Amino acid sequence: MKLTIEPAASIEGAIAVPGVKGISQRAVLLGAIADGESRIDGFGRSADTETALSVVRQLGVKVDDDGSETVRVRGVGLRGLRTPEEPLDFGNAGTVLRLAAGILAGQEGRFELVGDESLSSRPQERIAEPLRQMGARVETTDGHAPVVIEGGGLKPIRYQPPMASAQVKSAVLLAGLLADGGATRVVEPNLTRDHTERLLRELGVSVRRRGAEISVSPVDSLPPVDVRIAGDISSAAPFILAATLLSGSELLVQGVNVNPLRAGFLDVLERMGANIAVFNRRTESGEPVADLEVRSAPLTATQIDAGEVPRLIDELPLVALAAALARGETVVRGAAELRVKETDRIETVTTSLKALGVRIAPGDDGFRVRGVPSRPRGGGMGSFGDHRLAMLGAVAGLVSREGVRLEGAEAVAISFPGFFDLLESVTQR
Ligand code: S3P
Repeated sequence: MKLTIEPAASIEGAIAVPGVKGISQRAVLLGAIADGESRIDGFGRSADTETALSVVRQLGVKVDDDGSETVRVRGVGLRGLRTPEEPLDFGNAGTVLRLAAGILAGQEGRFELVGDESLSSRPQERIAEPLRQMGARVETTDGHAPVVIEGGGLKPIRYQPPMASAQVKSAVLLAGLLADGGATRVVEPNLTRDHTERLLRELGVSVRRRGAEISVSPVDSLPPVDVRIAGDISSAAPFILAATLLSGSELLVQGVNVNPLRAGFLDVLERMGANIAVFNRRTESGEPVADLEVRSAPLTATQIDAGEVPRLIDELPLVALAAALARGETVVRGAAELRVKETDRIETVTTSLKALGVRIAPGDDGFRVRGVPSRPRGGGMGSFGDHRLAMLGAVAGLVSREGVRLEGAEAVAISFPGFFDLLESVTQR
């Protein structure tokens, strides 16, 4: 689908965005191996969260879903998942595949995990390796999906992943729930989002963090999940950026998850000079939540290094655009993980923004942007089937002089099907 996003004057209004994708997925997966009926409120509807539902259904779990924001999952118990007849289809959902792999490593049976073309090009040895150390038989296809897992008989390990990845950490911790004989530990090179740990604690599981080391104790069973999920900051981020860049904007974002290990985009924008008020802070189901009020403000360049990267990894494409309109040179380093997302986002972000008139150059592990406080020209770009690229193109169109012709706009449905309607509803031209 090709969409033309015309330049906008400002962003005005109040919005709420769908529930955190990663918590929605975690709640479904944990609900599947809990005892009894789990209830997930504020379920973030998207292609990737629907994948979590279809995968647990394939594994023999009943899901009550009337399409509303509440989903019920009838758990089959810790080791009750059954081998499906067909390969488990993860579509584009990398998080679901990697987290499910941790759980499946502890189940008796043989499971084949497949995905679409983009997912099948992403590295899976990063989860296969620790799960093998724990005692599962895991085969990848030259390091990729299809991945075949023969699970059961896990033992605890202490694992130091070479990269900062919440998905890898979570796969090992979830397998640790099913390991016999003590706590499983993960030592992170840099802290990553802790949605898994917080949700496990909500379920009464003993999860400890000492510095960079996180440990989880095995359990005999899990109680049903009962969570309320707030808005996903990754879905709110394009709106926050548009309101920051378009002068005269005033945007209220209600009920956003502001977990400090996810809210790096707010910290970076504030450092660049953005005007974002965070208020009504509260805790919902063990996660920090707040409302945000965003007003436009001129930005200046900044530097982002490896320690900060995991806190805004999915927002770095938008940071590149923020930097394009910020005075001075912005440098992002230590973000090589961008190369193994839904697309190689160092490549796709830099070529796309360059085509729109932005002075941006790729590096091995990041990018450099020479910003000027005026609208970029605009032009044509494609999403490459990557939802974050489609959202980047949308905001780029609003803040450009000539608009953006966006090919593959439908990719937004991977995480946020209503994205364009909501954006249109707050855009003033
Ligand atoms: C996610 C972790 C991140 C992020 C992804 C979702 C999660 O990936 O990019 O969109 O829910 O755990 P990595 O942890 O592999 O960097």
